[in-house]
Amino acid sequence: MSTDPGIGPRYQDSTKYHRHQMPSSPGWAQVPPYKKYENPLRYVELPQPQQDDPGLWQTIAGRRSHRRFADDPISLPQLAQLVWAVTGVTLQESEHAFRAAASAGALYPNETYLLVSNVTDCPAGIYHYEVLEGRLAMLAEGDFSLDIAQACFDQRFCAAAGVVFAWGAVVARCAEKYADRAYRYIYLDAGHLGAHLQLAAAALGLGSVNVGAFFDDEVNHLLGLDGTAETVVYLAAAGTLKDTG
Ligand SMILES: Cc1cc2nc3c(=O)[nH]c(=O)nc-3n(C[C@H](O)[C@H](O)[C@H](O)COP(=O)(O)O)c2cc1C
Repeated sequence: MSTDPGIGPRYQDSTKYHRHQMPSSPGWAQVPPYKKYENPLRYVELPQPQQDDPGLWQTIAGRRSHRRFADDPISLPQLAQLVWAVTGVTLQESEHAFRAAASAGALYPNETYLLVSNVTDCPAGIYHYEVLEGRLAMLAEGDFSLDIAQACFDQRFCAAAGVVFAWGAVVARCAEKYADRAYRYIYLDAGHLGAHLQLAAAALGLGSVNVGAFFDDEVNHLLGLDGTAETVVYLAAAGTLKDTG
């Protein structure tokens, strides 16, 4: 009988970063950064994007990755707004709850965890977001800001952020429908979550940065995930902006 776990788990395992066993750098990519078709049928010139709308367009224009956070806390309403914008329920249709960010097959395999360190009216700790209840369940109490920064390649902004979001993929939730292709959808879904978080932070005047550089096992250990059935795939730090003026 084959003991091969299948391409999905092998892929996940082989692409892990290990602190003492890092892959050598592949050097500069030879692939051009832009794709260009020669001799297309026609060109259509696009108008300048509008930036005078106080809503979506300005938010998109203002989105930037910020890595310098102030000591001022995020407010709880701001945190609630961020979580809702990432993965809150926005449509209830019979038994199915559709969420703010798109998900392949509407399966939403990525669970949202929050490492809160500087949010008003929310004690520091590790939380899990309960989607249907719209509430946070505390899993561990205390300030884990240094631990998560260390686990994220010592990126210090993770320690200065008011909150670090971490998304853990419940692989089987997606794999029972898509088999090994599920990993693609899990990562794509996570990208949507990170994008929603950044736009929400920009709309609130907060700073945020997505984080793909992390030691998988260390973050999984912090979150209490086994790293196989559920494994961290993506993180993002958010906080009040440091006044640069
Ligand atoms: C998948 C992904 C992973 C990223 N990981 C990190 C990270 O670990 N550390 C970091 O400082 N920035 C990280 N970033 C932020 C990028 O560096 C940033 O988006 C890029 O420099 C473009 O800048 P902008 O977001 O301000 O447009 C990540 C972004 C993405 C989309």
